[in-house]
Amino acid sequence: MDIKRVKVGVVGCGIISHVYLRNMTRLFRILDVVAVCDLNAELAQQAAKEYGVPHIMTLDEMAQSPEIELVVNLTGADAHYAIIKKMLLAGKHVYTEKTMTSRLEQAKELVQIANDKHLYLGVAPDTVLGASIQTARWAIDHGLIGDVTSCIVSINRDQNLNAERFRFLRNEGGALPYDVGIYYIQSLLTLLGPVSEVTGFGAPAPQRRRQFLFNENDPDTWQIPGNNLVAGSLRFQQGALGMLHFDGNTIGAECSTFRIYGTAGILELGDPNRFGDPVRLLKPESEPCYLPLTHGYNGTCVLDDATDFEKGYGNRGIGVAELAWAIRGGRPNRLSKEMGFHALEVLCGLDKAAETGDVYRMTSTFTCAPLTPGIYSTMWMGGARADAELSLVD
Ligand SMILES: NC(=O)c1ccc[n+]([C@@H]2O[C@H](COP(=O)([O-])OP(=O)(O)OC[C@H]3O[C@@H](n4cnc5c(N)ncnc54)[C@H](O)[C@@H]3O)[C@@H](O)[C@H]2O)c1
Repeated sequence: MDIKRVKVGVVGCGIISHVYLRNMTRLFRILDVVAVCDLNAELAQQAAKEYGVPHIMTLDEMAQSPEIELVVNLTGADAHYAIIKKMLLAGKHVYTEKTMTSRLEQAKELVQIANDKHLYLGVAPDTVLGASIQTARWAIDHGLIGDVTSCIVSINRDQNLNAERFRFLRNEGGALPYDVGIYYIQSLLTLLGPVSEVTGFGAPAPQRRRQFLFNENDPDTWQIPGNNLVAGSLRFQQGALGMLHFDGNTIGAECSTFRIYGTAGILELGDPNRFGDPVRLLKPESEPCYLPLTHGYNGTCVLDDATDFEKGYGNRGIGVAELAWAIRGGRPNRLSKEMGFHALEVLCGLDKAAETGDVYRMTSTFTCAPLTPGIYSTMWMGGARADAELSLVD
């Protein structure tokens, strides 16, 4: 296939950038990473050297570069608005780590700028394009559980403890619903479509007294902003009802719960922060069974030198590649600005409902097409790369 690769600039060379850079430089042939940028020049230099990226740029240089078409924003949520706005105004398509911003008004402005300038704006998490969620979508679309009636998702972490290690968690967007709950919300949106109403209760994180010495300059105390615990309810446009439980004020032993109930069966999913967790089907009058994965990108790392951390983060970058194929094909990207905005509106709507005691009525909507099934990412028992990128083309 004769393709013109999309030239990419990456902003943010922190922890998550490694798996992105490794995959973007070696796994997806549509992408051509030509520049990296970080406020910390040393990190940018290391990334350029490790992944063979030819240029190190400042934000201004990246915005002005005639070569770069797509900017991938891998900074913490509190930095997203300014970076995305700058790059859109400079005429760049943008793909951003989650969440688009942590404030709805800012997100609205970014969507407007992208619309006005006819630019793509894609939003993580891209695990929803992985094999697990796409298989569950296939099962639902093909009637395996009948009409969906309801769903329940739950995740817990000690977000306060995690904020010792991951400093961006101490800022806006670092509370558990925004940082981790978003994987569950974006997955539900991929499976069941848009939400019409949300309501719920919330509680803040406690003040944290520093326990560790990861960084001498860390403050002695801090408090993660916003609701770090949310118990919420959703009504989807298609009629299903949902329950959400995101508790960042408990211990770190994660108990991920993800179930979709239908008139003819139940689907049990694994952790939506991963690409290939099993999808279990429960039907009346038979033993539960695991569905064979209908799609590629099951999280298996086919690049030989990834660290264990990177392997755990599997196929990250698939959302960037899907967006790049959308640019070349002139079609909408799946993890669209409308979907990212809708996911953020669910989170902000929950906060609003918790504050007022009212039901929040959603103002936005979106569509997200499934990926083409039957095209896999590994072959020969997972030991080699197959051609799953073909599933991202259309
Ligand atoms: N760490 C994870 O496990 C993980 C997993 C999934 C998603 N994410 C998401 O990825 C994003 C980044 O996470 P991380 O853990 O890599 O954070 P990090 O703090 O390790 O890295 C962020 C980098 O962005 C740089 N940066 C910030 N503002 C900048 C600016 N204006 N210009 C240039 N560089 C700037 C910082 O210097 C830093 O090196 C977050 O949105 C997070 O939610 C992280």
